[in-house]
Amino acid sequence: MCGIVGIVGSRPVAPLIVDALKRLEYRGYDSAGVATLEGEILDRRRAEGKLINLETRLNASPLSGNIGIGHTRWATHGAPVEVNAHPHFSSNVAVVHNGIIENFRELRQALEGDGFTFTSQTDTEVIAHLVAKGLRDGLEPIEAAHSAITQLHGAFALAIMFGTEADLIVAGRNGPPLAIGHGEGEMYLGSDAVALAPFTDRITYLEDGDWVVIRRNAMTIYNLKGVEVNRDEQKSIGSALMVDKGNHRHFMLKEIYEQPEVIGHTLANYIDFNGDKIALRDMGDNQNPLDFANLDRLNITACGTAYLAGYTSKYWFERHARLPVDIDVASEFRYREVPMSEKGMSLFISQSGETADTLAGLKYCEQAGQHLAAIVNVRESTIARSSHNVFPTLAGPEIGVASTKAFTCQLSVLASLAVGAGVQRGHISREQEIKLVRELSEAPRYANDVLKLEDSIKALAHTLANKEHVLYLGRDTNYPLAMEGALKLKELSYIHAEAYAAGELKHGPIALIDEEMPVVVIAPYDRIFEKTVSNMQEVAARGGQIILITDPRGAQEAGMDGIKTIIMPEMPEIITPIIYSLPIQMLAYHTAVHVGTDVDQPRNLAKSVTVE
Ligand code: G6P
Repeated sequence: MCGIVGIVGSRPVAPLIVDALKRLEYRGYDSAGVATLEGEILDRRRAEGKLINLETRLNASPLSGNIGIGHTRWATHGAPVEVNAHPHFSSNVAVVHNGIIENFRELRQALEGDGFTFTSQTDTEVIAHLVAKGLRDGLEPIEAAHSAITQLHGAFALAIMFGTEADLIVAGRNGPPLAIGHGEGEMYLGSDAVALAPFTDRITYLEDGDWVVIRRNAMTIYNLKGVEVNRDEQKSIGSALMVDKGNHRHFMLKEIYEQPEVIGHTLANYIDFNGDKIALRDMGDNQNPLDFANLDRLNITACGTAYLAGYTSKYWFERHARLPVDIDVASEFRYREVPMSEKGMSLFISQSGETADTLAGLKYCEQAGQHLAAIVNVRESTIARSSHNVFPTLAGPEIGVASTKAFTCQLSVLASLAVGAGVQRGHISREQEIKLVRELSEAPRYANDVLKLEDSIKALAHTLANKEHVLYLGRDTNYPLAMEGALKLKELSYIHAEAYAAGELKHGPIALIDEEMPVVVIAPYDRIFEKTVSNMQEVAARGGQIILITDPRGAQEAGMDGIKTIIMPEMPEIITPIIYSLPIQMLAYHTAVHVGTDVDQPRNLAKSVTVE
């Protein structure tokens, strides 16, 4: 998704803005731009593609100026070409924007009627012209900016600067987040604190509907009604966090390797290891403590990989806590007109905590009076702030667009919640709790062991790299994991992949099987292993090339010669979805590296999707 940066500085800001934009690259983008004020002239450089193109342009034709705004654009309205890249200008006004202006057609029509000429296909350009129109009508710059913001419908974060103002940026948010950074004689703004980490760790987050007047030495925040409001300054942990690849070739690989540590860190937040019990700590509104005993239904809503974490937990909550679970992708949930139970709870899972569809699902449940809980990786996020109970994942910033460590940390929280729910609801005895808690606490050790399989997985990945299609099969919790495997492979390597519940194979997809079709089967040796092996035999009988991910017992019992295997250690059933995620991730990663795609920023994808 688009990223925004602004600096009201005391030195040339263009290189600083590009540096900050690099820290927003992980969000996904397809063009970029920067504008500064040089004397009384607004000037800009924009370029299609990666920031390196923008840098080349800036090197050839530098921008001076101590105040500026910058942007990485993920195309929504209009192709990812230079004329659509931000900043957008209208006479003396420059604008960068993240989100969607829903009423841009009406506004554009009216502005064209007023004599404004549009040079792009974007919705953003209306903002620049609206502000310019305000100025033309005699408003002061701040009034003109505010007046424009109030005319916009939709979700947006934006920043506006003026050719006449060397000490002023006006910014605002309605939906996507915006962080203001405080420096010494400099002020900054960015889509997140990570972008501002090189400059400052003193951050103020705007709340929904806020807009802010930023000057070199001060800022004033107003709410939607124009009343001045106070928002606390916080010490961001963004600057303390390493946002580089270390020795790894890609952020994704680094994040795969961080998993033993972050899974352990996350579990430690929900498990009392000394007391061998679940300790459901949350950082939400304690007026509404979470009580699973009184629930009769749980709705889980999320998007992408987070949805698949939720799907896995359906098996856990139903099995261990006897709690019925509905699981939906957020974009379907909110229009499904779901009848809500008075004793129900709605749980939202989101790495970023800002995904527009998930947030819309949350608002729907809020209106229905549901108890709201969230699992997020970004504690200051909108979804976290809108929920009664918040269970953070402690994965640290995830930069690779394809989610890895956030997923396994989500699973770690969900497994802890499911066991905790089982205890609260009287379906898990003290003895079982001790056993399950000890099994969960083994997850980091197993994750570490499995990382050692990387070389053999890499060799297998090379056999996938020239394929056009791949099937993934699994049963029970390995079914959502098969979906995650297929999702990872397609998003990273652009190879078409699909997942099926193994038992469903014979109801259609078996028609696809021939000697060219690789089939990844996820099947630890468990109570349904035999059933999965039967499905695997159906594939083998038709010449399909099987890659079996199993454990030593499973490899032995499968009794099939000539199939490729990834042999995992034997491990307790409850942690298999967490640990089996790692070979799935590594398989997709190495296939993509072999194919030669952009692993950390696959084409067309965004990390944080703040549009519906
Ligand atoms: C995007 C990302 C996915 C992510 C999904 C949900 O599609 O590319 O990796 O799973 O959004 O994001 P969230 O921040 O809500 O977990």
